[in-house]
Amino acid sequence: MSQQPLIIFDTTLRDGEQSPGASMTLEEKVRIAKMLELMKVNVIEAGFPIASPGDFAAVKAVADAIKDSTVCGLSRALDKDIEAAGEALKGAVSPRIHTFIATSPIHMRDKLNMKPDEVLENAIRAIKKARQYTDDVEFSAEDAGRSEPEFLHRIVEAAIDAGARTINIPDTVGYTIPHQFGEMMKNLIESVPNADKAIFSVHCHNDLGLAVGNSLSAFLNGARQIECTINGLGERAGNASLEEIVMAVRTRQDVFPCDTGIDATHIVPTSRLVSRITGFPVQPNKAIVGKNAFAHESGIHQDGVLKSRETYEIMRAQDVGWSDNQIVLGKHSGRNAFKTRLKEIGFTFETDEALNQAFQKFKNLADRKHEIFDEDLLLIVSQTHETTEDDSYELIYSEVCSETGETPVAKITLKIDGEEASGTANGGGPVDAVFKAIELVVNSNTELKLYSVNNITSGTDSQGEVTVQLQKNGDVVYGYGAHTDIVIASARAYIDALNKLAASITRPHPQHDGI
Ligand code: KIV
Ligand code: ZN
Repeated sequence: MSQQPLIIFDTTLRDGEQSPGASMTLEEKVRIAKMLELMKVNVIEAGFPIASPGDFAAVKAVADAIKDSTVCGLSRALDKDIEAAGEALKGAVSPRIHTFIATSPIHMRDKLNMKPDEVLENAIRAIKKARQYTDDVEFSAEDAGRSEPEFLHRIVEAAIDAGARTINIPDTVGYTIPHQFGEMMKNLIESVPNADKAIFSVHCHNDLGLAVGNSLSAFLNGARQIECTINGLGERAGNASLEEIVMAVRTRQDVFPCDTGIDATHIVPTSRLVSRITGFPVQPNKAIVGKNAFAHESGIHQDGVLKSRETYEIMRAQDVGWSDNQIVLGKHSGRNAFKTRLKEIGFTFETDEALNQAFQKFKNLADRKHEIFDEDLLLIVSQTHETTEDDSYELIYSEVCSETGETPVAKITLKIDGEEASGTANGGGPVDAVFKAIELVVNSNTELKLYSVNNITSGTDSQGEVTVQLQKNGDVVYGYGAHTDIVIASARAYIDALNKLAASITRPHPQHDGI
């Protein structure tokens, strides 16, 4: 059983961003990276620098901003990828290049069109090239979960000899089962002669809902690094979720006698930040970070918890950053109280201007809502999509009339690339009318795939948070908006999604676009 610290490698900004529609801007990535650093994540995978100039710039910005965590850039086993990663990571205090190539028969044959020996040669060349930029090189045998054990052992041994310090064993397609994956890790570590010269890592996808189970099983069998994401974001069904890994290890010290070093009190604020930035809602029953994760509905449970918390709770909500939903600020609170409370929940402002802008939003909200909770504060500081300079569309004005017995009608004015345009439309309800009015002006030809509303805190003056998913020509984007008026929140979410669609650029996918 492992007594050594578990290394937490977060890939929210890379694999998480590969979820369709979860793209993030450079500023958003830096903001999330800073929260991860505050949480004491060991390694932050910031992106795939060769993918596009925007990805390169984002990895560089994270590398320049982060001081306490290792910053990692992904590259295929290609010289140009490794050069881009090395360049983007130049400013990092602790840079890591992560290079990968597929090793399963199906990937080698159908995707790479390479023989195993060629794959091995490419891996060695890539690792040696990456070592010219940094000593900290990670090698991943993509689709290791479906690779032949003999070939996997051979390539892992060669990768360590070539200079890889971390060997990552991904279950790329989420196919393995915990006891089998654990055994695979054990066999690998026992049979590779130079295994003691590298740290073994796992990277599990959640296609069968087993990503966390597989990761922990591998950890019990010798892996020392787990790759994971906030909220379990990631390709298809996602990756192993960071919060579940960290809290499983902490809660079951009898099984995992080790420390992750993570400051878990930042988990919920970071989860909310990621959800707001990507537009991916967190399901209410999601472990640790779901709205209901610590809620007790049934009378028996409530009674038990009131008598003794441990009857039904194995963790304390406050330990993972849930606030006790107490009023923290109000209309008369000043800038200092606002800044101090945000600092307590893990958020600091880079500049006075940023503080002033956020404080103004707080004052506007306090005019509409008497009691301001931590959830409201986090929302204020994570609303980054509101009218940035790069946005194509901006909501200037909206008016909705919804009377008993009458068809709702909405009038909106948008600024489109600097020019104002207005439209009026009827709808089945006020939100439908607003969306139709926006479409009349924008004519985006998108399809609305999802519309969801959630209240952030309790009470009828709570802010409603709205998520929409739009689809156009195969591109999927999420938009997010929040306001005490849910019609305005809806309009904001729709416009947020339109802005993301307008900004979307095609870039190669690290795993699908073959070499
Ligand atoms: O799932 C996977 O195999 C990956 C690799 C690039 C590590 O994301
Ligand atoms: Zn992955």
